[in-house]
Amino acid sequence: MAPKHTDDEEVSLFPRLRATLVEREPSLLARLEALEADHDRADAAHAELGELGRRWLADDGLDSRTYRRFANLLAGLRGTYRRHIRIEDEEVFPAAGRLLPAAALDAVGREMADRRGSLTCSQRKAQQAAAG
Ligand SMILES: [Fe+2]
Repeated sequence: MAPKHTDDEEVSLFPRLRATLVEREPSLLARLEALEADHDRADAAHAELGELGRRWLADDGLDSRTYRRFANLLAGLRGTYRRHIRIEDEEVFPAAGRLLPAAALDAVGREMADRRGSLTCSQRKAQQAAAG
């Protein structure tokens, strides 16, 4: 999966959320594990797709068996992403908003912004306010 996305979740969000879920919503712990497994599965699929894509370009095509593998990997990724995004949007992110204190959410946001070399929403608003 996208490295920044994976770090946003596996380095910044999930450790903070996991500590809270253990006490308050242990049923969601399995969802975090499923998302982490999706990240690993998607990474492997992306790596193989990259290799097959390079072969496609170098050889100006793929044999039918390799093409089917390429198409199956894409279809698998589509399914993984659909399920993954649904779990994030409908279960994990709402739980984070409900269960994590504002300071923890701010820290997650700062770490995400740092990965992208950008500002958080609150940093941007403060900067705009300071500018007048
Ligand atoms: Fe994710």
